[in-house]
Order: sequence, then C-alpha cells, then structure tokens
Amino acid sequence: MTSTPQNREADIAAQFAELAPWVFQFRIRRADYGGAISAHGDVRIEWFRRFAPEARRILELGSLEGAHTFMLAAQATRVVGIEARERNLRKAELVKRLLGVRNAEFLQGNLETIDLAGLGHFDAVFCSGLLYHLPEPWTLVDQLPSAAPKLLVWTHYADELSADAVQHGFRGRVHAEGGLDEPLSGMSPTAFWPTLGSLIQLFTSSGYKSVHILHNDMSHPNGPAVTLGASTHEMPTLRQSRWGKMR
Ligand SMILES: C[S@@+](CC[C@H](N)C(=O)[O-])C[C@H]1O[C@@H](n2cnc3c(N)ncnc32)[C@H](O)[C@@H]1O
Repeated sequence: MTSTPQNREADIAAQFAELAPWVFQFRIRRADYGGAISAHGDVRIEWFRRFAPEARRILELGSLEGAHTFMLAAQATRVVGIEARERNLRKAELVKRLLGVRNAEFLQGNLETIDLAGLGHFDAVFCSGLLYHLPEPWTLVDQLPSAAPKLLVWTHYADELSADAVQHGFRGRVHAEGGLDEPLSGMSPTAFWPTLGSLIQLFTSSGYKSVHILHNDMSHPNGPAVTLGASTHEMPTLRQSRWGKMR
C-alpha cells in the first residue's frame, strides 16, 4: 500500500485505538489522537519552568501517558518518568516513538516503595497529581531532596475541617482510591491526604530549606489543591536579608 497522509493517520489512529481509552490528547504531525484533555497550556508546566528555569535533568513522578513528560523534555537534556501501570507506560512509549522524542525515558516503579537513589541525580523533580495517591507520602518525600535540589508539587490536601486522623505525626485524612484497574489511581486501597500545614511540615522536615505556596486552589472540585515549590537552598533574597543576618 502506498504511504499517503491519509493511511499514515489511519495507521496511527489504529495504534491509539488498541490502547484506548486515553486520558490525554496528543498531536502527531497535524492530527489529534487519544483522549479529551490537551496538556498544552497546562499552567503547572509554566510554573515549573519559572520555578526551575535552569533544570535540564528532570525526574517526573506518576508520568501517566507522558503528556507532561514530552513538554518537559522540550527544554531538557533528560527526563525520567516513573509510572506504576504497565498500560500507561505502553501508551507513553507509543507517543514517544510517534513524536520521535529521544531524551525521555519511562521506568516502571511503585513510588510507594521505590528507592530513588539508583536513578542518578536530577536538577528538579516534577510531581503532579501523584502525592495524594500515596498511603504514606512521607516515605517518598523523604527521598526527594537527595534526588534533586528543587521540587514542584501539585497535590490535593485535606482541609482543616475534614482532618480526622494523625499518621506519622501529620494531620490529615484517609482517602479511598479507585483500584488497580483505574489508570489515574494509586496502587493501594487508600491514600493519606495531609492538611496544608502538615504538607509544609513534611517537606520542611524531609530537608527542604524553603517551601513556597505558588498557588492554592481551595475550590477545586476534587478537593483543595496546592502547588508548592520546594528547594534545598534558601531563597537568595532571604539569605541576604536583615532577618537572615539576625539568626
Ligand atoms: C492522577 S494521575 C496524574 C498524571 C499526571 N502526572 C498529571 O498530573 O496529569 C496519577 C498517575 O500516577 C500513577 N501512580 C499512582 N500511584 C502510583 C505509584 N504508587 N507508583 C507509581 N505511579 C503511580 C498513576 O498510574 C497515574 O499515572
């Protein structure tokens, strides 16, 4: 069969159909494939770039179909996405091949139990939509300052009035997860959502010297959601301030 744009598109559509359903939409050449959500224009990528403009080696946690990964890769030398679900990884690998992306790697791993030390060192971690799926988020967060000096997190948290539990010294609540067959869910039946105060306490006690609230969406339909930027270095302006000198 002669290769025409029409039959190339039909071939790509068939490859996407084999792995359906998809969450994200991907533009390959001039046509769109996959799910309903386009990651283009996602402010979290813009915030990450502003927070860590120098980051060239990026570790992404919970990379799903790779939609954020490929955007991060556009300005990086290496992006490593960790993802637990094999089916999500197969989707990400398909899009990677079709887009011809060479500097993104996808690794299968459970972020509840993973040891990040073997993955090497990164300039920044991008952690969007993952932390609120973990039953013990502190186990992962404790490893992050050694993986990279900067971290951008987007996560849901427990509002103060719903917090009815204390785990590992953090206040929060237990949240039911969607199960192993649900492509966006955690790998355990429940997750622990700390309150915003406990989240900041968690990042600070794990070794970050500065933890900034970049955005706080208190009316998100799935529960309050915060974007935090954490760094193992103090903010330069604070380091030079009178306050800094007084301590
Ligand atoms: C809500 S989606 C977020 C996807 C993407 N990062 C985003 O912000 O749109 C959560 C992703 O994390 C993955 N995930 C959840 N728990 C995980 C775990 N314990 N280890 C590795 N990946 C996990 C899910 O399979 C899914 O791809």
